[in-house]
Amino acid sequence: MSLPSINPTTTEAWKKLEKHFLEVKELHMMDLFTQDESRSSKMKISWNDFQLDFSKNRITEETLSLLLQLADEVDLKEAIQLQFNGDKINQTEDRAVLHTSLRDFTSMKPEVKRSLKKMKKFSEAIIKGKWKGYSGKQITDVVNIGIGGSDLGPKMVSDSLAFYKNHLKVHYVSNVDGDHILETVKNLNRETTLFIVVSKTFTTQETLANATTIKDWFLKEATQLDIEKHFVAVSTNLSAATYFGISEDNIFPLWDWVGGRFSLWSAVGLSICCSVGYSNFEELLKGAHEMDTHFKDSEFSENIPVVLALLSIWYNNFYKSETEAVIPYTQYLEKFVPYLQQAVMESNGKEVDRNGNSINYQTGTIVWGNVGTNAQHAFFQLLHQGTKMIPVDFIGFSESLHGNQKHHSLLMANFYTQSEALLQGTYNEEINESYSVFKGNKPSNTILINQLTPKNLGSLIAMYEHKLFVQGIIWNVFSYDQWGVELGKKLADKKLLS
Ligand code: F6P
Repeated sequence: MSLPSINPTTTEAWKKLEKHFLEVKELHMMDLFTQDESRSSKMKISWNDFQLDFSKNRITEETLSLLLQLADEVDLKEAIQLQFNGDKINQTEDRAVLHTSLRDFTSMKPEVKRSLKKMKKFSEAIIKGKWKGYSGKQITDVVNIGIGGSDLGPKMVSDSLAFYKNHLKVHYVSNVDGDHILETVKNLNRETTLFIVVSKTFTTQETLANATTIKDWFLKEATQLDIEKHFVAVSTNLSAATYFGISEDNIFPLWDWVGGRFSLWSAVGLSICCSVGYSNFEELLKGAHEMDTHFKDSEFSENIPVVLALLSIWYNNFYKSETEAVIPYTQYLEKFVPYLQQAVMESNGKEVDRNGNSINYQTGTIVWGNVGTNAQHAFFQLLHQGTKMIPVDFIGFSESLHGNQKHHSLLMANFYTQSEALLQGTYNEEINESYSVFKGNKPSNTILINQLTPKNLGSLIAMYEHKLFVQGIIWNVFSYDQWGVELGKKLADKKLLS
């Protein structure tokens, strides 16, 4: 069955929201808090280790109920079911979208189970030193060669879980920048390095160029026969990977129903397994699955991804905010925003709707940000006193990992007070100098999570995956294709041939 394809602007809810927007757009959130003392407790969702506080948004209860009506009118419920049922909802590529099934241990496809088993066996052999390089030495370094979804997801996760890392040094090369490749390999020992070539299609120019350069570098001291001890691949394209020289046993599978930017849950996550061990990888999957269940089964009003998506639609399409910032208060999540940028912008940066018509409303929010507190000393001035309205997601963790309470209290004090400052500004204060006035009334969500565990990270990533899907459904776009990047690839190839 196909996804419903309803132009959101034709719904009753949209028309009501347009009218409602004119009535509420100037309201100050500080007044809304004064008028309703229970606002904070009403606009909050607690789930597992997560607490979403969305009370600091420029909404009333009526806004929320109209947004929920919009979700109903575009048949979001049915769309969610179609995705989880494995219907071919990626219509332009004639594919199902089932990355969620990679993390569902209750009803896992046999080929996924087999792949996980292979990942476990392989990563354990590498970690325990049972897998030996061509001269009989243990592996010390793992290099992931991939780009886009074959790089950003695994890189982000293994960086975010640095606390759980073992002795292996894991590196990522993606850019077709020879300097970066040679800079990476210059300190590596061929005898003790494993290369994972990750490419769903095994046709991506950057990845093939980088893998070839690295293979040539490897063969300066090793022989063709040594390749099987040092090169493995993750791909759907078995013939291209074997043609490259990787033995069939060393190829981990991937399936066309896993989109590149949603593939870290598959064998694309092999570098994660090597870096933090298979059991932590499994925890990541389980955390994501728990979020899947929450998303699939909860009422929309209690559903974290749905509520976040609706709020984002409210700002994007009614307040005409073009961007939103994501600020994690932990250095571990430094790579989270670049990862999200691909997930969100490659998915929803679309100008044609699911009926093939040109779109005349805004889609695809621009996501940007960096870790707090660094971001406070970089671009927060613009959030606080700039002329643009930029909704912010603050992500924080109640407990630190190393247990330095003094630092964690400082960090979390900033986490809490920044959203307060954006809300209050200098509201009702007597300020003499105009440049010291902060209007406040700037929207934000706070997402407070107990601790940065592999499981909670899995839930957090899945939360944003589902948020972007909901937005795509409302905007009536196909979120799971990426035709927009194909033209550039073709032109680059053509230029090389000419
Ligand atoms: O940039 C487009 C894209 O197709 C992404 O969607 C994908 O993650 C990336 O290229 C890499 O593709 P592959 O894994 O096939 O090398």
